[in-house]
Amino acid sequence: MGHDTHGLNLQREVGLIGAVSFIGGTMIGSGIFISPQYVLSTIGSPGASFIIWSCCGLIAMLGGLCYAELGTIIPESGAEYIYILRTAGKVVAFMFVFSFIMVMRPASGTGVALIFAEYAVAPFYSGCTPPQLAVKLMAAVSILVLAIINCLSVRLATGIQVVTMAVKVVALVVIILGGIVMLFQGRTENFEDSFEGTNAGISSIGIAFYQGLWSYDGWNTLNYLTEEVKHPEVNLPRAVLIAISLVTTLYLLVNVSYLAVMTPKELVSSSAVAVTWGNKVLGSWGWVMSVAAALSAFGSLNGTFFSGGRVCFVAAREGHMPDILSMAHVHRLTPSPALIFTTIISLVVLIPGDFQSIVNYFSFSAWFFYAIVLSGLIYLKIKKKDLPRSYKVPIVIPILVLIAAIFLVLAPIIDNPQIEYLYVALFISSGIVLYIPFIHYKLCPRVLDKLTVFLQLFLEVAPADKNL
Ligand code: ARG
Repeated sequence: MGHDTHGLNLQREVGLIGAVSFIGGTMIGSGIFISPQYVLSTIGSPGASFIIWSCCGLIAMLGGLCYAELGTIIPESGAEYIYILRTAGKVVAFMFVFSFIMVMRPASGTGVALIFAEYAVAPFYSGCTPPQLAVKLMAAVSILVLAIINCLSVRLATGIQVVTMAVKVVALVVIILGGIVMLFQGRTENFEDSFEGTNAGISSIGIAFYQGLWSYDGWNTLNYLTEEVKHPEVNLPRAVLIAISLVTTLYLLVNVSYLAVMTPKELVSSSAVAVTWGNKVLGSWGWVMSVAAALSAFGSLNGTFFSGGRVCFVAAREGHMPDILSMAHVHRLTPSPALIFTTIISLVVLIPGDFQSIVNYFSFSAWFFYAIVLSGLIYLKIKKKDLPRSYKVPIVIPILVLIAAIFLVLAPIIDNPQIEYLYVALFISSGIVLYIPFIHYKLCPRVLDKLTVFLQLFLEVAPADKNL
């Protein structure tokens, strides 16, 4: 076979439509179907919540543009990991990858999986809350199914991403059209005095942003797989622009529609806004919204899983994870060891996880590392002006997003310090303790070599080259 002489490569399979679906389809997941009520209840008024949703969209867009430039300067897969490695250096990159693989990625995956599961089991328990065990088992099943699909074929996983993206766009458009009809029928009373009751404390603004930004998270998805995108120098910036502006427009209009149909009180007390909306507007067709929400979360989980596996794969290639994780299946050309490893950790995190706290701690650590990445971009723009790049943003953009990121990390701590944030910070720094013996001094237990050889034969995988 041709690739025997050159080693293996992951192939460039993702075109523009796939690229837009990876970004948009990961962003639209669980959030828009449930978070509007949390944003509203934290910030207190519909007007302020609309501002929060708009600012979140703006932050995602500006962040996405910065990442588009980074992706064209550093054309390797692995997003934050590789950008931190090439700017801040090995130790910080290792701290990132350690927290990312152990906590952040499993947490975001598990969060989305739990919402998928809640919608998927609800029809079997009509009228009562489904038992936690059933929800968690269903979440585990979804993670396993996606693991298998992702190990089998990149093309299949990309296909799922495109199809679910189409489904969720249609679902959101239905919600928007329903809202427009209501507005024309004169349901505008929820938009009067729309700033009454606003809670303008720093910590409530911070938490409202965390909840809103959760719905937008995934704006950086394509940067995890740059090496698998066709013509990334054009498709990356283009996909960022298309996907993030599409998602922002949809989210804002959907929020308007929710309020055209429900009073703020009803919204805050509903257990899942999209379903309440469906029952009110679509009547006996209300279940369609539950199906759409479940499919949406499933697609977002697929994107999360796909991209998370790539970080593990790239970090192993750089020697920051066991070698076996940098290998790809010899025929299927998927990074199956990294995917299997990601699956195992997600299943472990699933056991204790609950959705709300997952979202808050996830956002805290995510924005901490986004801040480091953005400082890296500012550094490259000042010090390495002549690195070739096919796409450039004005330097104020990374500066603005950096300020937003610093605010997001500090706000919840300053106003209302909770011990959990300290635990998260300690966990992130504990990466150093592992770095010194295992990476710096390369102390590697002998058994690991034997295990690598065994797994290599068992999984039919071999080392894969960079795709530059
Ligand atoms: N924005 C998604 C949602 O609303 C969450 C995506 C989490 N995954 C990720 N790769 N960041 O459910």
